[in-house]
Amino acid sequence: MTRRFSLEDLILTANLIDGRWLSAADGARFAVIDPGTGNTIAEVADSGPADAHAATDAAARALPAWRDTLPKERAAILDRWHDLIVAHEEVLGELISLEQGKPLAEGRGEVAYGASYVTWFADEGRRIYGDIIPAQQRGKRMSAVKEPIGIVAAITPWNFPLAMIARKIAPALAAGCTVVGKPAEDTPLTALALALLAQEAGVPAGVLNLITASRERGIAAVADWLEDSRVRKITFTGSTAVGKYLARESAATLKKLSLELGGNAPFLVFDDADIDAAVSGLLASKFRNGGQTCVCPNRVYVQAGVYDAFSRKLADKVGALRVGPATDPSSQIGPMINTRAVDKIARHVDDAVAKGARVLTGGTRLPECGAHYFAPTVLANATDDMQLCCEETFGPVVPLFRFDSEEDALRAANDTPFGLAAYFYSQDVRRTDRVSRALEAGIVGINEGAISSEAAPFGGVKESGYGREGSRYGLDDYLSIKYLCQGGLE
Ligand code: SIN
Repeated sequence: MTRRFSLEDLILTANLIDGRWLSAADGARFAVIDPGTGNTIAEVADSGPADAHAATDAAARALPAWRDTLPKERAAILDRWHDLIVAHEEVLGELISLEQGKPLAEGRGEVAYGASYVTWFADEGRRIYGDIIPAQQRGKRMSAVKEPIGIVAAITPWNFPLAMIARKIAPALAAGCTVVGKPAEDTPLTALALALLAQEAGVPAGVLNLITASRERGIAAVADWLEDSRVRKITFTGSTAVGKYLARESAATLKKLSLELGGNAPFLVFDDADIDAAVSGLLASKFRNGGQTCVCPNRVYVQAGVYDAFSRKLADKVGALRVGPATDPSSQIGPMINTRAVDKIARHVDDAVAKGARVLTGGTRLPECGAHYFAPTVLANATDDMQLCCEETFGPVVPLFRFDSEEDALRAANDTPFGLAAYFYSQDVRRTDRVSRALEAGIVGINEGAISSEAAPFGGVKESGYGREGSRYGLDDYLSIKYLCQGGLE
């Protein structure tokens, strides 16, 4: 029978190391803050290098036995984990909303989204095939087999506290790897709850180890993993600056890396687009999690012929979005994650307005709601000298740029070091083919704003990183290929 945990049961404050819930070695703790109210939700372990090292020791001890389990045995555990996550959709959704600030419906949606990766990789893990290579010489047999890469360090962001860690842990476990992980300091509670459910599902001691840490201490803890040659892979979702740091610092032990980094997604609306569909697609992709996703459109390019009609329709819809506490079922936009985040949004809007942008709706903080709220905003007359054109705003702000030709739009869209997602709306089938090939991005939404799926490869090009999560490609990042050459068979 499935054990049911309440929200209180799922609020854990210790590290999970070797199957035991432990305080930080020196007893340090830090506060997890509700971004909506500023209240402390709980105090969790503030781990340092000693805790990170203990986690790696446990993962190393557990690796030989876990690697040797049958794929279907690992899949059965992952299936149980999936069922437990789904059974706790309501409370996990609440916990996500509480510590991260996304509205309840989105919190629950994230639980389903994260769980979908667990069941997906349970199945993919059953199909880790190798190859028989046609022999090049008589008496020789050549084959390629896939093996778990070893200990994986998973470092995850605050914007999807459940889905991002699930889509790293699930393929790692399915492949036969053991895991050490650290969730973002803003949202450690959901990850710990997920780890409890993994334990409940039968993940053996030491196979999954999670430590929590504040920003400063977390850097030192992660440095221990970067230096440790037993950790063979780092999987990270977060900023490009941190991704580059991880790549640099892990070079001494040549770890495999999967980096899902920042985006600066363009969203193109051509004269021949279905304008209503484009407005709905933009609303869905831009305002998911209040604009705090790596794949949110950051720059919206609209062709001159439809610019005015599109702007009007968009501003009407955006102006009607309901902002309020994440825990209020009627809210569509909750608080931003922290003061740094809301300050950056305000800075981008002020800079744009100072350089000639016109506010069609929003444009201000909402102190009456709380310190971290910002009004959903549409800005007309955006230009490429504005900060929001070259930096991710990561908030509910849509800047509208006007363009004349397809060539101009593509040049502007690709004029960024980033290449995670891109979107465009057009009903011309030839243009659809041309533009989808020309956009420099790992993911392209064509007349579609909702692109994420466990069955699809998620990841970027250029400085948005490398590696793919989800899909059948997502498992490869956790495997290494061994070539076997057997001679003397003649
Ligand atoms: C992200 O923002 O990093 C992930 C978004 C997604 O999986 O759709």
